[in-house]
Amino acid sequence: MFQNPHVSEMIPENFSEIIQVLTANQLPTEDISEQIDFFSWKEDEKLIGIGGLEQYGKTGLLRSVAILDPYKGQGLGTEWTKKLLHVAGQRGIKELFLLTTTAEKFFQSLGFQRIDRAVVPDSIRNTTEFASVCPASAAVMSLNLSAWTEEESQIFADYSDFFVPERNTQYQIMGDWLGSVNSLDKAIDLCCGDGKLCGYLLDRFPNLKMTGLDGSEYMLKTGRQNLHGMGSRFHTQLFQLEENNWRTSFQNLDAVVSSLAIHHLDESQKKALFFDIYQMLNPGGVLVIADIIRPASEAGDTIAAEAWDHYVKQKADQAEKPEIFDLFIRDNWNYFRDPDGDPVDKPSRLLDQLNWLKEAGFEEVDVSWVFAGHAIFGGRKNR
Ligand SMILES: C[S@@+](CC[C@H](N)C(=O)[O-])C[C@H]1O[C@@H](n2cnc3c(N)ncnc32)[C@H](O)[C@@H]1O
Repeated sequence: MFQNPHVSEMIPENFSEIIQVLTANQLPTEDISEQIDFFSWKEDEKLIGIGGLEQYGKTGLLRSVAILDPYKGQGLGTEWTKKLLHVAGQRGIKELFLLTTTAEKFFQSLGFQRIDRAVVPDSIRNTTEFASVCPASAAVMSLNLSAWTEEESQIFADYSDFFVPERNTQYQIMGDWLGSVNSLDKAIDLCCGDGKLCGYLLDRFPNLKMTGLDGSEYMLKTGRQNLHGMGSRFHTQLFQLEENNWRTSFQNLDAVVSSLAIHHLDESQKKALFFDIYQMLNPGGVLVIADIIRPASEAGDTIAAEAWDHYVKQKADQAEKPEIFDLFIRDNWNYFRDPDGDPVDKPSRLLDQLNWLKEAGFEEVDVSWVFAGHAIFGGRKNR
């Protein structure tokens, strides 16, 4: 709706304005102090919304989220809360808590889950809002900011053909890696999403059977629907990429593929994953990764950001759906515009990842394609 909405931190002398807005929204005002960082959302100097964050290291309390009366009923509360979540992520908050007496469903739609008061960390429990201002009956909710959300899954599944650069070329190249395996029978896709890559590979290699693993129930359900026609050649499994429990259950694989997911792991988790995948593969088997990669400089960030925006804009314009590019920008899908903005994204340098593959034992470690900050790379287990 707004072309250039402006989010900024409010300075303490605006407290009377803040208190007015909170009072009009029946939100607590008793403990408003400099301990809380307030943010405003403005368009042409007109105040649209306010919101507050109390930060205690990696945890934070979201509070005082309000949209001003003239702008209510237009879905702006969701947009504004997402902006505040982004700010919280940028400040290094990994787990965000809130208390609400009236908006549990609203915050649930943004990924917050109701939790037991007993599990709330002391830093949050000791805040005045928690300890004395909000009634004991208020729902306590939390959101893990370093995790991928079901809402992101839905948006990604709907728009991946626009958001992912040169997707068909990527599938073809990943398929070419698999085509180089002598006897291709069994493969897994780590974080398979809605199963598009598995679908492409199963179509291309009629003897192949695949398991698609993902942490999102929504993605796995959509994947099963999309690949219904593959019958028993396609299975799904719910998993958490960073956990170890699934790793020993896969042996004698001919290929492991993964697209746009391994960047959710930090450096040591990536190294451990590469090592474990090596153990899962048959001799001659391949690991092929398509992912965003961390540029080596700010100039590299800008080059990747421009190229990605340009690709998505062109694709949306060609389809006469410019609103898809607006969504890509509004929801900050272009990682390279703000590389440290979202703790869920931890891409590593391409050169580092190639070295970690070698350290894990892989041979023929190589890069097959790079574009707009995305790369396809991998290696082979000794034949
Ligand atoms: C950007 S999507 C990519 C999906 C698919 N590979 C594709 O390229 O279309 C990221 C996927 O990773 C999954 N995911 C993210 N973090 C995860 C984790 N820690 N464990 C398991 N799955 C995860 C999400 O559910 C989502 O399906």
